[in-house]
Amino acid sequence: MKILILNGPNLNLLGKREPGVYGSRGFDDYFDELRQRYPSLELEYYQSNHEGALIDKLHEVGFSFDGVVFNAGAYTHTSVALQDAIRAIKTPVVEVHISNVHQREEFRHKSMISCACKGVICGFGLDSYRLAIEALLAS
Ligand code: DQA
Repeated sequence: MKILILNGPNLNLLGKREPGVYGSRGFDDYFDELRQRYPSLELEYYQSNHEGALIDKLHEVGFSFDGVVFNAGAYTHTSVALQDAIRAIKTPVVEVHISNVHQREEFRHKSMISCACKGVICGFGLDSYRLAIEALLAS
């Protein structure tokens, strides 16, 4: 089973960025742990700060992979283009957020992509990614 973890803008700074909100662990370290935990899965990771690059990646994997775990960062709240890209592909996408966006500023309560995703997991810290993998495995 092939699963892509796709991270959007500013998530390259995990571990350094607002540790009170996003924790102090870098994503590379967490991704190594995920790979060890799921040795039978083909897990891939891609991060970009650019909306178009995220769309290109969804198109690239969206007809061959079994799932995408997608944290679109701030583009979650703004991007019709990402919603369209998720709708355009066959691979199921699970939206994830590290923080509980519903406990934060009002502008974070609205997601432009949730309606195109299979489901949403938010608020469990980095464990949100593992929970999304479990959701894909169970579906
Ligand atoms: C985030 C929440 C977004 O509102 C924010 O813009 C991010 C990270 C999260 O994982 O909690 O960049 O997606």
